Amino acid sequence: MGEGTGVRFRGGGLPRIFPRPLLFFLTEVTATMKLLRPTALLLPLLLAACAGTPAPKPVPAPTPKATPIPAVRVDEAPRDPHTFAHPEEVSVEHLVLDLTVDFTQRRLTGRASLRLHNTTGATRLVLDTRDLDVRKVTLDDGRTAARFQLGDAVKFLGRPLEIEIAPTTTWVNIDYSTRPEAAALQWLTPEQAGSPSPFLYTQSESILARTWVPCQDTPGVRMTYEATIHAPRGLLAVMSAENPTSKSADGVYRFKMPQRIPPYLLALAVGDLDFRPLGPISGVYALPTVIERAAWELADTPKMIAAAETLYGPYRWGRYDILILPASYPYGGMENPRLTFATPTILAGDRSLVSLVAHELAHSWSGNLVTNATWNDFWLNEGLTTYIEGRIMEEVYGRPYFDMLAVLGRQALDDAIREAGGPDKPDTRLHLDLAGRDPDEGTSDIAYEKGALFLRTLEAGVGREKFDVFLRAYFDTFAFQSMDSARFVQYLKRNLLGGEEAPAKRLQVDAWVFQPGVPSNAVKPRSEAFVVVDKAVQAFNAGTPAAQLTTANWTTHHWVHFLQTLPDTLDAQKMADLDAAFHLSQTGNSEVLDAWLLKVVNSKYEPAYPELEKFLLTVGRRKYIQPLYAAMAKTPEGAERALRIYEKARPGYHSVSQSSIDEVLGWRG
Ligand code: BES
Ligand code: ZN
Repeated sequence: MGEGTGVRFRGGGLPRIFPRPLLFFLTEVTATMKLLRPTALLLPLLLAACAGTPAPKPVPAPTPKATPIPAVRVDEAPRDPHTFAHPEEVSVEHLVLDLTVDFTQRRLTGRASLRLHNTTGATRLVLDTRDLDVRKVTLDDGRTAARFQLGDAVKFLGRPLEIEIAPTTTWVNIDYSTRPEAAALQWLTPEQAGSPSPFLYTQSESILARTWVPCQDTPGVRMTYEATIHAPRGLLAVMSAENPTSKSADGVYRFKMPQRIPPYLLALAVGDLDFRPLGPISGVYALPTVIERAAWELADTPKMIAAAETLYGPYRWGRYDILILPASYPYGGMENPRLTFATPTILAGDRSLVSLVAHELAHSWSGNLVTNATWNDFWLNEGLTTYIEGRIMEEVYGRPYFDMLAVLGRQALDDAIREAGGPDKPDTRLHLDLAGRDPDEGTSDIAYEKGALFLRTLEAGVGREKFDVFLRAYFDTFAFQSMDSARFVQYLKRNLLGGEEAPAKRLQVDAWVFQPGVPSNAVKPRSEAFVVVDKAVQAFNAGTPAAQLTTANWTTHHWVHFLQTLPDTLDAQKMADLDAAFHLSQTGNSEVLDAWLLKVVNSKYEPAYPELEKFLLTVGRRKYIQPLYAAMAKTPEGAERALRIYEKARPGYHSVSQSSIDEVLGWRG
């Protein structure tokens, strides 16, 4: 896989590392000193006062003991195994895009101009590309043609684009087009978009930005950007940037992103979009047929922003808007800065699935502000975010609501560990080794739920107040920088755990991050609200008819927990009983429907097959559809049915979902 795969820059006298002098400063404050002083001063005074003797003169505070944990240095970043680029030699600090959106050809065509920061006198720039047609590369004002070469393709990574530059080159301009099969892009026909117009959207995380923009596609590099997008007249273009709220007459839109972001946060969508404000800095974009529902469902967004700001400091990205995409969107949500991309499957009609907004909003701190340096430390993005998501939900909806989410999260973690092959498997670690693999393989619930459980365990160990101060300082200290597991652990030991190894040992910090499985000190989530659900499950298993179960006032989460706690397979009579009593096949709630359909597949409950097929033909969210296809594929008849449905559904799925399901079904086209 080319240069330096998996090699860490730390130690070992390896090459120049981020040679900007500023980066060599220690970036953290020694919190230990602040903690030691008051006690050191007060204790002798208090003791003296109690003993009735005159108070001795205050003595200068002793210098804190030399701690064995050194301060974190921001220059010690690990090498990213998923990029061809060498940002330590020359980095891209600003991007100017000028792209024309051609729905007929399914191509973006235009120019990417990259402004370089070259402090090492580098004479070549290596960029990541995948499936790009590069026409021409010029330097600076565009009058000097540059020599360039596309290297061999590497699985998952695409091809390095090597450009000869001079040490004084400031701009590199690349004229190129994307291919119709570009993995980040989904081009939807009007029919697929559920709109009178076609629709285009991008999904760049983890390493798909390179399929639509030649760039240093690593989360360890940050750049500002601006863009001019030429869209067909009558459509609105929006990006992860300062956005328009109404259509322009000529279809041309200009964007500016003044904050530095890693390339995986580049995002674009083009379609027949409307906008509605939700609060002073937030609003929602969606198709005209969806916009009213979306605005109602997402009304609590301003409250979530307020809760997050109280906990972790000011929101730093200007606006927080949400774009509701067509149902093929492969994820629940994506934290594109200033503009979260979200699946329409969260529009349940009762605001019960808005924890997704809390999650994507939380990324404005964990992920977008302090970013995993490589995909091996994806948990630093998603685990911290899942923790913060829970805190926002608790703040806005109360502790019992959070408790339900925490119990469901723990179940998801146990499932993920089982899927990984058990608690001794290396992929159940938080810090992963994904070199040579698709980073997508590291995106299981382990990163999310083991990560969040770790932070909740730390919180319980040191107390919420102290933990909140710690996290807030972490975001302030490392804002707009990247972070890896080793440095996070080091910072944690120094700034939360007093700079000693003992408390870190007691809390099993290293085991949490670097060892597989779940350490023995994990806090145990418990939900009072789920007690009635567990009782209902027991009663139903013991033969009580569904209609006689106590299910009054159950919310989405009660139902999901109910369905997930029932046995994996039920006989046809029990399935029919449940469906007749609770109309599960007809539910408009995607989480409940998904949990029900999984049971339908596992139980081979044929009366609900039409609903199953309808769901698979309309929804492209991978988290839902992949387990359904996988469950079908367990039996020969099921596999055959799955393939029949998939053949019809596949053209409507994004490449991310296609790749996963191709694998599950052994699809070869
Ligand atoms: N950043 C992720 C989505 C993602 C992960 C994209 C990995 C590409 C690679 C996003 O923040 C996320 O976690 N989405 C979740 C929803 C969330 C509520 C758990 C999803 O899509 O299911
Ligand atoms: Zn996330």
